[in-house]
Amino acid sequence: MCGIIGYSSKKKNAKDVVIAGLKNLEYRGYDSAGIATSENGKINLYKAKGKIAVLEDKLNNEVINASTAIGHTRWATHGEPNETNAHPHRVGNVTLVHNGIIENYIELKNFLLKNGVTFNSSTDTEVACAYINYIYQKSENKNKLQVISTACDEIRGSYAFSIIFDDELDTIYATRKDSPLIIGLSDDGNFAASDISAILDYTNKYILLEHDEFAKITCDDVEIYNKNLEKIDKEIMFANWSATEYKKNGYEHFMLKEINEQPEVISKLFNNYFENEDYLSINIADYDTIHIVACGSAMHAGMIGKYLFENFASIPVSVEIASEYRYKKQLITPSTLVIIISQSGETADSLAALRIAKEHGAKTIAIVNVVGSSISREADETIYTYAGPEIAVATTKGYTSQVAILSMLVLNAMKQKNILDDSLKNKVQEEIGKIKEVLSKVIDNSEKYIKIASAIKDKEHLFFLGRGIDYTLCLEGSLKLKEISYMHSEAYAAGELKHGTISLIEEGTPVIAIATDKTLYEKTVSNIKETKARGAYVIFITNNDEDVENYNDFADIVLTIPKVTELLQPLVTILPLQLIAYETAKMRGCDIDKPKNLAKSVTVE
Ligand code: F6R
Repeated sequence: MCGIIGYSSKKKNAKDVVIAGLKNLEYRGYDSAGIATSENGKINLYKAKGKIAVLEDKLNNEVINASTAIGHTRWATHGEPNETNAHPHRVGNVTLVHNGIIENYIELKNFLLKNGVTFNSSTDTEVACAYINYIYQKSENKNKLQVISTACDEIRGSYAFSIIFDDELDTIYATRKDSPLIIGLSDDGNFAASDISAILDYTNKYILLEHDEFAKITCDDVEIYNKNLEKIDKEIMFANWSATEYKKNGYEHFMLKEINEQPEVISKLFNNYFENEDYLSINIADYDTIHIVACGSAMHAGMIGKYLFENFASIPVSVEIASEYRYKKQLITPSTLVIIISQSGETADSLAALRIAKEHGAKTIAIVNVVGSSISREADETIYTYAGPEIAVATTKGYTSQVAILSMLVLNAMKQKNILDDSLKNKVQEEIGKIKEVLSKVIDNSEKYIKIASAIKDKEHLFFLGRGIDYTLCLEGSLKLKEISYMHSEAYAAGELKHGTISLIEEGTPVIAIATDKTLYEKTVSNIKETKARGAYVIFITNNDEDVENYNDFADIVLTIPKVTELLQPLVTILPLQLIAYETAKMRGCDIDKPKNLAKSVTVE
């Protein structure tokens, strides 16, 4: 949710480095972008509405040779996406980029208006910039760290700031609260950035800036200060993701690349698990209830977790939407375990839910992809999904790796409860040995996915139907289709449709129906037939090859997928849904990796 990067350079043109960094951060927001350059003793601002490429085109007409620069790619919160609202903002002696939301900006704005300050944009960020400038003007000794710290005492909300002052043009000051920021270190210069992807082309060495810490960054030095403005030593970290992992590597889209990476990611995760089954120090079986808290697809992964925990380990689970959980009455007891799931590890609502769970005394486990992210650092125990960087805004390997970890936790809990029999364990282990090939085979069926996409691409809306675990997969399949193809779809528990929604089925309405649970197969098929009788165009996805002769009675297109043990089946079943969404979005000419209105890492409430 907004990406920021600042660079103070020894020799390279800081403008080029910042623009390259912004391109890698573009998944965080892409409605407008801007850069402030320090050149020949003054600041120049360049902004453009739209993606970084538009800004880049604009900069191609300029001769710029910057020693220091700060840049921003925006996901609008306050004020429409236009050049005026694009960052950097500049007031008086202060130029600033911001990721986050200033909650008390109206209060601060009114105060500043009374003090004669005027504003150009509708953003909360310009207010923060003006407020820092106001404190700066009042300050006698012009100690910048003191100025920023005093201003931040009054600024409420979440922020990561990178700031340049006019009288210190080659220094970037940075601070953060509840929005991520790292400080990158290299021999050629130093960085502030929203995440490591922005700087990996130049360095993998970085410092994690904590809440209320401050950084003073020049081309040959970085100083970090704590809340009391005392200089502190920080651990230098080394990113283990490489710059090539951030490239498409021949794939047309990041989403397709990430879909194709799933067989490898999943098989590696399970193989590591079976090499060290006791890697989790928390004994899940000690807890009477589990709350799984997350947003979006991560929450859908949590729903699979609920199904598996309850069915296999007999542990009751409630799955909660993080933005709701954080404000509801907490019924946490000492025997409640809270599992937070987040690919980015920075989702504001999930982070807040984690903190609330901890405040109420819950033991917390985080399932996270991004190493060193806020959620991973704050949870009692973190299990990494090791899926590698996920760049496409719509999650695929992030989601399946979360589902895989949850399956392993279920096995873990069963083992701890002494209810894991050897036959199930051996079956899972045997299937894991083949999972890579099985998943690759499902992915490698593009003709079929293209056929399905052609059948649905021009429709107004469609339905996903399934029962039990298939219903949770329908929710994820529907979300995927909506977010990248902009088609309206709804996921329904198959038995629920006739309680109202079936009135929307008419001649030709596509219904994507999933039936992989043998115990529910006949019930699901009956529900499908009810839609067929009302004119639905049925796309049927099943692992049941015993009913082939009857498919024609109710299905227009049939996709059979491999049957594996129930603990692994969701990992197989979700793949066609990801690929149907992908092919449909492609046919509809959508911007698959950067769908409109979205951003990858939702660091605001
Ligand atoms: C959908 C999608 C989102 C995320 C959600 C949570 O494709 O990616 O729904 O799953 O925003 O994000 P994380 O997992 O980073 O907390």
